[in-house]
Formats: sequence, C-alpha cells, structure tokens
Amino acid sequence: MSVPRKILVTSALPYANGAIHLGHLVEYIQTDIWVRFQKMRPKEEVGECWYVCADDTHGTPIMLRADKEGIAPEALIARVHGEHARDFAGFHVAFDNYHSTHSEETRFFANDIYGKLKAAGLIEVRAIEQFYDPVKEMFLPDRYIKGECPKCRAADQYGDSCEACGAAYAPTDLKNPVSAVSGATPVRKSSDHYFFKLSDPRCQEFLRRATREVCRTQPEAVNKLQEWLGEPGDNRLTDWDISRDAPYFGFEIPGAPGKYFYVWLDAPIGYFGSLKNLAARTPSIDVAAFTEREAAARTGTELYHFVGKDILYFHALFWPAELEHAGYRIPTAVFAHGFLTVDGQKMSKSRGTFITAESYLKQGLNPEWLRYYYAAKLNATMEDIDLSLDDFIARVNSDLVGKYINIASRCAGFISKRFDGRLGAIDKSATVEEDSVWQSDEIARAYEAREYGKALREIMRLADLANQYVNDNKPWELSKDATQANRLHEVCSTAISLFRDLTLYLKPVLPKLAEHVEQFLNISPLKWADIGSSLPAGHRINEYKHLMTRIDSKQIDALVEANRESLAPAPAPQPHSQQRHAERQQHAEEKAAVSHISIDDFSKVDLRIARIASAEHVEGAEKLIKLTLDLGTETRTVFAGIKAAYDPATLAGRLTVMVANLAPRKMKFGLSEGMVLAASGEGPGIFLLSPDSGAQPGMRVK
Ligand code: MSP
Ligand code: ZN
Repeated sequence: MSVPRKILVTSALPYANGAIHLGHLVEYIQTDIWVRFQKMRPKEEVGECWYVCADDTHGTPIMLRADKEGIAPEALIARVHGEHARDFAGFHVAFDNYHSTHSEETRFFANDIYGKLKAAGLIEVRAIEQFYDPVKEMFLPDRYIKGECPKCRAADQYGDSCEACGAAYAPTDLKNPVSAVSGATPVRKSSDHYFFKLSDPRCQEFLRRATREVCRTQPEAVNKLQEWLGEPGDNRLTDWDISRDAPYFGFEIPGAPGKYFYVWLDAPIGYFGSLKNLAARTPSIDVAAFTEREAAARTGTELYHFVGKDILYFHALFWPAELEHAGYRIPTAVFAHGFLTVDGQKMSKSRGTFITAESYLKQGLNPEWLRYYYAAKLNATMEDIDLSLDDFIARVNSDLVGKYINIASRCAGFISKRFDGRLGAIDKSATVEEDSVWQSDEIARAYEAREYGKALREIMRLADLANQYVNDNKPWELSKDATQANRLHEVCSTAISLFRDLTLYLKPVLPKLAEHVEQFLNISPLKWADIGSSLPAGHRINEYKHLMTRIDSKQIDALVEANRESLAPAPAPQPHSQQRHAERQQHAEEKAAVSHISIDDFSKVDLRIARIASAEHVEGAEKLIKLTLDLGTETRTVFAGIKAAYDPATLAGRLTVMVANLAPRKMKFGLSEGMVLAASGEGPGIFLLSPDSGAQPGMRVK
C-alpha cells in the first residue's frame, strides 16, 4: 500500500472589486466537489486535503474604486471579503481557509520569491515610457485610457482594443487619448520598471519541459501553451513587467521605494499565504512540505490549481517559472475550465443573465439545484458550459427530485407507520444493490478525473434501477395485504438502503442535502468506505420530511428580472412570465446569430429629433463642438466630435437626431448629456443626420 496522499487544492482568487456571480461559481463549485470527494475517501488513501482561497485585493481598479467611494482600500477589501465569504458559504463552498492577498503571509512569500529570483539573476530594471495622467498624477493602465480607435475611428474606445471593429493596438496608438480617471489628456512619461526575465534561456527551457512533463494540464491547454512558447529558439516569451509605480495599492518592492509588485505577481502567491495562515491554527499542516521544492519532493505532496481558461497563461507559464527559479515547488497540475454562458450567450446585464450569487440566494432558490446542474454539465475539458434556464428547471425537477428524492418519499412512510421506524432485512434477490457496489469505483474514478457529468449519469442510472425495483414490487399494493407485511418491510428497507448509497455518491455535489439525509437515516456522516455495508436490520430511522422541492419556472423568471439592468434611465416594464418564456426561447435561437439584437434591444435607445439651438467652439478641444440641443420640452448640452467637418456658425437652427437616454458623461470640458448621430466611413468626412422636413424637436425616432 502506498503512502496516503497529501493534497493542496486552490480555486482562483476572485478580485475584491466585484460581486460573485454565477460564472465564478462554475469554478468554486467544480473545485468544492473535487475536494469534498477527496475528503470522503478512506484516510489511508487520502491522508490530507486542504482547500484554500483568498480575495485578490491589489491593483489599480481596487485603489480607484475605494477612491470613488471615499474610503481606504483596506476598508473596501474588508467589506468585499465579508460579501464573498457569505456568498461562497451560501453555495456550500467549503474552503478550509478564505484569506486575503493583503496579508503579512502573502507579503512574506512575495518578498521571498522576489529575493530569490533576483539572486538568480532573473530580475532586470529597465526604463519604459507609458501614458501618465498629469491631473491624477498616476500612470494609466491600458483600460484607463480612452480615445478614438486608430483603425475605425469609433469614439470612446479603451486603450487595448476597439469594441466597434475588434482591432487590437497599443494605448499610444489611440487618437485623442483621454484619461478615463480624470478626463485629462495623458502625457508620455518614462520610469523604471522591474522585469522577470522570462526570455532567459533557463525559463524557456524549463517551461518547454514543464508543459510536457512536470506541471500537467489538459491536452488542449498544452497545445495552447506550446503555441505561446513556440519552437525551441523562437524565444516568444517576452520579459514580464512585475512592477507598478506609486500610487498603487499593493506591496512595496523591497529595496525599491515607490515601486510596487504588480497584482498578478502576488496573486498566486496568495495561495501559499492562505495556507500559511491556515497552518498557524492547524498545527498538523507542514507548510514547507507544500511549498518548498526539496520538502515537497520528499513528502510527495500534490498541488492543484483550478482556474478559468482566461488565466491559464498566468498559472501554467509565469507562476511555475517563478516557483522553479526561486527553489519552490511547482504545481502538480493546473485544471482549466471553460466559461459560463446563459441560454447560449455571454452573461448580460441587459438580458438579466448576469446573475449574482447574492440575488440567487435572496430570491430563495436552492443553491444545490445549481450545484447539481453544473455538476451534470461539467467535464475535464476547457469547453464553455451553458446554463440553459429551461434545461436547468427540467433536469433538476426530473432527475434530482423526480428520480432520486422520489425513492425515499415513496418508501419512508411505510417504515415509520408500519414498522415503528425500524429497517428490516435487505432483499437478497434485488440485483440493483450489487450494481451499486459495483459502480462505486467507476463513479469514484469519474469524480477524480473531474468527469462529473459522467459520474451523475452513472448515479442517475442507478436511481432508475432503484425506481424500477420499487415499481416492480409496488409497496403501495403490498401494504394493502396483511400477509405481505414482511415483503413490504423488505422492499422498503432495500429501497431506503439504495437511497443511502445514492446519497453517498451525490454527497460531493449535494452536501447539505446529504446532511439532511444522514439525519433522516440516523447515521454518521457518509464516507466512501460505507459502500458495500448496508444498514442493519433493526436500525431505526427518523421520520421522513420533504427533502427538496421542485423548481417553479416563475422563480427563474423572477431571478432574471431581479438581475436585469435597464439601459433606459427609467425602470423597464416588467415583462410577465409568458413573455419571458418566449424571450428565453428566442435567445436559444439566437445562438447561431449572436450579433443580432431584438426589437426590444433597439427600442431601449431613445432617439429624438433635436434642434441645434446653438453651437460653439470649445477652448482647448481639437475635435469638439459644444451643442445646445432643443428637445421641445428641455435642452441638453452635448459635446460632439464633429469640428473637423462643421463650422459652428452653420449649425445653429438645423435639426438632427440625438440619443436622449445615453448616460451623461463627464468630460474635461463639462457634462455631455447625450450624443448626436453622424455618419462616417473610411475616407474623410463626418455627416450629421437630418430628418425630412416637418419633423419637430422632441419627436421620437423609431
Ligand atoms: N483575480 C484573478 C485570479 C487570480 S488567481 C491567482 C481573477 N479573478 S476573477 O474574479 O476575475 O475570476 C476568478 C475566477 O473565476 C477565474 O478563474 C475566472 O476564470 C473565473 N470566472 C470568472 N467569470 C467566469 C465565467 N463567466 N465563467 C466561468 N468562470 C469564470 O481572474
Ligand atoms: Zn475600431
């Protein structure tokens, strides 16, 4: 017999600047199921399994958000930590520790790893030039620079890519850049940055070997990694910029005043920080065995990271390279999963499918419905998983409640009413009992391999057999015949015993329900080793109370409504249930044509005829004209980027079309309360729209 496994498991650390939503939960539920499965295994097989996580607290977005709320970043991350911990607990995600990267433990490991990389000659300082906000006095990350797309000229695009035409570019390519933080025009400024030399042959050579042999991941992920790495000699990986200049919320780099570790440097280090924090109150944990190269090799500990495919790059390239060259252990494997879609589309606030964990629980939906559905959909690949709302309702109701719960609800009553709550002998002729034992290894293998969909298919097949057994033996008829009391006792006891096995198999997915079943059956917590030994005759069970309700489609409609964010300033009318259903249907059909919008989407844009009451030059603006627009009942100020094509003097008095319900935007020159419509193409020229004669200011365009 080999030595018991010692396993450390992590889920990615969620950013501390947003709420947990159903997309995140794919990962945390996937990981939690795996960990719960390991914890149910015999101790001689899995000796230890620790599940740690933390909030990812550093970086510019968190700093700026705290700024905006007028609180210290420490106060912001403390509040969000509470919200995240509450949401995870609500979905029964049972971390052994939920810590924070803004902790002394994480700082300790960050400094240590950095110091060792520096000693190995893998840190280099170079000056680079970036956009700087002279008003806010800070360097601007790409996402905080906006301007016109250099390719299609669309206004208001981010510094890394254009949402209108999809072009990718450097922030310095943007036309008329502005800082999204202050509205100021950014200037170019140079400063020293610290780089981790991934281009060093040692890193390249190690990663090429690691992606093949050492740090495992799925075949399709290996392909991706090899694409990123290129062929030997390609030297495709460039050095990684790991520092940011003050002001920054993070850890100051030792020996480099005013320079901070970039958030992605200390984020994965937070895994170890969380473990060290846990170990401080759990003396049996040997931190070095999980973190140091020699100790890990000696003790054979395993380290697994569950991550989304979007952050595979960080976990399978940067992170192992850092660890390797700092004398730390590298991950045993990185398990990457796909992204959640809802009814075949990206989660969307306007459709109400950007659903927060909090709202799901607040609406009174059972978290185990979602755990079950995700498990049924999950496998070991990086494919996206779809939460199809109609399928969600159907599967939970027909499989979970209709098949599994049904077994207990059909048989438990007879045991309590007729046999004083005591179980009888097991029916020796029932082969399904043997099937169940026989299947247990298959199910365990599926859980271990993260093939949860396969595990649940096996389990539901057994549930079908158990229901078949009950149908064949008809306890409700046996109960009418006094001479059949023994048979009734035997059939119901056998069904309850099968129900116990099914509960055991489902326990990693449905931990709370399993707990209720354990109370009902009056047994100690179910473990994998319980398979094969049935409940003894004479064992007394408790009265059956209903274990799980069905999903009512109205609950799902209400959930979607609660998450729908209207584009119009006034709340949109609440479509009633029927309409929602039709919409859902329509969304399924839209899968093939994601780029279409519905007439409802279009009608959210409030287009109005406007009369240009006055037009003037804007002091200091190269492109803008300030328009005062008359909408009949009100006037609006709009800054329009049309100076290249129009002389303000010619504009006053003419009619045009404006978007009247665009969120007001604060610009350097004042508040812009809408947008006028104009056409432009590849060549020069901007052409303002005009209505046919007769149109009046304020008329709706539809
Ligand atoms: N803070 C980083 C991770 C640092 S790990 C050292 C981060 N945070 S996140 O909040 O954006 O995402 C946390 C995890 O949730 C990631 O693994 C991400 O892939 C996953 N998901 C976020 N949205 C998701 C979906 N819509 N679908 C599936 N998983 C998603 O990334
Ligand atoms: Zn563009």
